[in-house]
Amino acid sequence: MCPTLSKLEKVCSIRDLQALARKRVPKMFYDYVDSGSWSESTYKRNDSDFNDLLFRQRIGIDVTQRNTTSLMAKTPVTMPVALAPVGLAGMQYADGEILAARAAETFGIPFTLSSLSICSIEDVARQTSRPFWFQLYVFKDRDFTRQLMERARNAGCNTLVVTMDLPIMGQRHKDVKNRLSAPPRLTVSSLMQFLNRPGWCFKMARTTHRTFGNIVGHAKGVTNLRSLAVWTSEQLDASLNWKDLEWIRDQWDGYLIIKGVLNTEDLNRTIDVGAQAVVVSNHGGRQLDGAPSTIRTLAGIVEAANQQVSVLLDSGIRSGQDVLKAVALGAQGVLIGRAFVYGLGAAGQAGVAKALEIIHKEIESTMALVGETEIPGLGTHNLIIPGHFSI
Ligand SMILES: Cc1cc2nc3c(=O)[nH]c(=O)nc-3n(C[C@H](O)[C@H](O)[C@H](O)COP(=O)(O)O)c2cc1C
Repeated sequence: MCPTLSKLEKVCSIRDLQALARKRVPKMFYDYVDSGSWSESTYKRNDSDFNDLLFRQRIGIDVTQRNTTSLMAKTPVTMPVALAPVGLAGMQYADGEILAARAAETFGIPFTLSSLSICSIEDVARQTSRPFWFQLYVFKDRDFTRQLMERARNAGCNTLVVTMDLPIMGQRHKDVKNRLSAPPRLTVSSLMQFLNRPGWCFKMARTTHRTFGNIVGHAKGVTNLRSLAVWTSEQLDASLNWKDLEWIRDQWDGYLIIKGVLNTEDLNRTIDVGAQAVVVSNHGGRQLDGAPSTIRTLAGIVEAANQQVSVLLDSGIRSGQDVLKAVALGAQGVLIGRAFVYGLGAAGQAGVAKALEIIHKEIESTMALVGETEIPGLGTHNLIIPGHFSI
């Protein structure tokens, strides 16, 4: 048996996949994933706050037939999970976005392609057969932003996820220290990291996808590494506001999801703009350090949404049990970032498939033990919620 597959046989949890990814991915790219901004307090809280919610065990209920399918942002899913947009996924494993999209397609859940992916919109569309979701950063170059939406539409994407929580870039200390770039700069330190990861290098040498595929050759004047570095450093738009969202709403006639909502004030603006769904997200603790975890803000947002928009959640999901806690508190489904990226880094498409299998099994088993047979049946009656949990 191939060594990667035999390693996967012993994997029981997302944490096991994380440990394998750490061994296979060069340090600068592993660190890029396993980090939050500044003190990482929000990054850590996203994870640990799930532990404060307990399940209510039930007995004496026939749970032989369990069904994990549901609808998420109008998409039928085999479990209420989608892959979150992750920039530079193609640096975790060669052709990473294509491999993750294929794993999601096989499993029957949505894949979201980041604007800052390595494989381009067209690359992923060519290698998959179902529509994927496209995540949009609103760049200062509005013409390029409009073209991105057009390319996504031409590639068959029917759902646009607009990320609003990155008007400026949160600082992750590890990225500064590692001098992260894509493709990586060749320094003594980076060369040492690559020499220690021959499996990663071997695959990377065989692909042509090594830089931002949606940008190079598409954005005005970006033809080489130097112009790419200048472009990316200048393109985040600190002026991003709700008027821009109205402009996007006018350009995009498909399903619109706004990512980065953490309070009811912003939720109401997304409803005014006409979005159909929001992702309660703090960008996996990578933007505003000191922001609350998403699981604590979820119930208030679900209540205020009052079914006018679908509410999804991300940030901190590391197990099927975390998925069920979010769904029991009213999320229609969740997006997972690191949980699938660790699988990707560990073993490519097979690793993402393993991450999804683990989460699915955890969902199914937990449903049995809390006495539920269908996703829509889940609710706060399945949880023991400490006083003052929600904010
Ligand atoms: C390495 C990495 C890169 C990311 N890149 C993007 C991106 O390009 N666009 C975006 O909207 N969110 C991006 N995110 C945020 C994710 O979409 C998602 O909100 C977050 O990962 C959820 O937290 P989790 O990793 O704890 O599941 C990124 C997250 C990580 C970890």
